Amino acid sequence: MAEQVSVPRHIAIVMDGNGRWASKRFLPRVAGHKQGVDALKRIVSACPDRNIKILTVFAFSSENWNRPAEEVSGLMDILALALSREVPKLMRDGVRIHFVGARDNLSARVKKGLEEAEAATADNSILTLNVCFNYGGRWDIAAAAARLAAEGTSITEASLSAALALAHCADPDLIIRTGNEKRLSNFLLWQAAYSELYFSKLLWPDFDEAALDAALLEYASRERRFGKTSNQVVSVSAAPLP
Ligand code: IPE
Ligand code: IPE
Ligand code: MG
Repeated sequence: MAEQVSVPRHIAIVMDGNGRWASKRFLPRVAGHKQGVDALKRIVSACPDRNIKILTVFAFSSENWNRPAEEVSGLMDILALALSREVPKLMRDGVRIHFVGARDNLSARVKKGLEEAEAATADNSILTLNVCFNYGGRWDIAAAAARLAAEGTSITEASLSAALALAHCADPDLIIRTGNEKRLSNFLLWQAAYSELYFSKLLWPDFDEAALDAALLEYASRERRFGKTSNQVVSVSAAPLP
């Protein structure tokens, strides 16, 4: 029997390093964000062949509002443009897009773009693409807890998990961060509890299929124990299939 290589079903990525990519080329930071959209397109296309069913990416954090106004508005424009341009390709590739994050402080134009892209792709099922935009892990947990409290539902791990913005997906198996930083920066704080972490030195615009394959290879070599001992995990995976 061929050796079974373990593939993450759900990958999450902190797409970091766009600004440095641009600065190295004496370009404005926004040029790096544009190039970052191309890298994202590459990785979205690469997922189905690799049996990845869910891709969650961090595109704009709750804290990114603190950047210069010009960069924030550049990012909003890039999003609005990418959405209107890319929906036909998402349709061809069977990608369902979800935006995860607070919508109340987005402009009407951006909000409409998000809603239209979600509605247009709602029946696609090859890959689920969650774009975390105006998202923070703390925002998500606090908003979910506030909703449960307002409804009078008791707060348990199960009820809180079900109230989070990513409740439609199992937790990420693998979280990749590019840009040579080793932190989560408020990404998926709850869902990362047992994710494998992988840090790439590449700047996000340079991240390609080969870099993704390197991360997948490393993931396949990890032993996910979920609190158990190594012996317990090995004996479960060696047990004959029912
Ligand atoms: C990540 O790239 C994209 C966003 C945060 C929107 P950065 O813009 O953080 O790039 P660096 O880290 O400054 O290079
Ligand atoms: C995290 O990157 C957010 C996104 C990739 C959207 P940042 O560049 O904002 O993170 P910090 O500020 O370096 O921690
Ligand atoms: Mg950064």
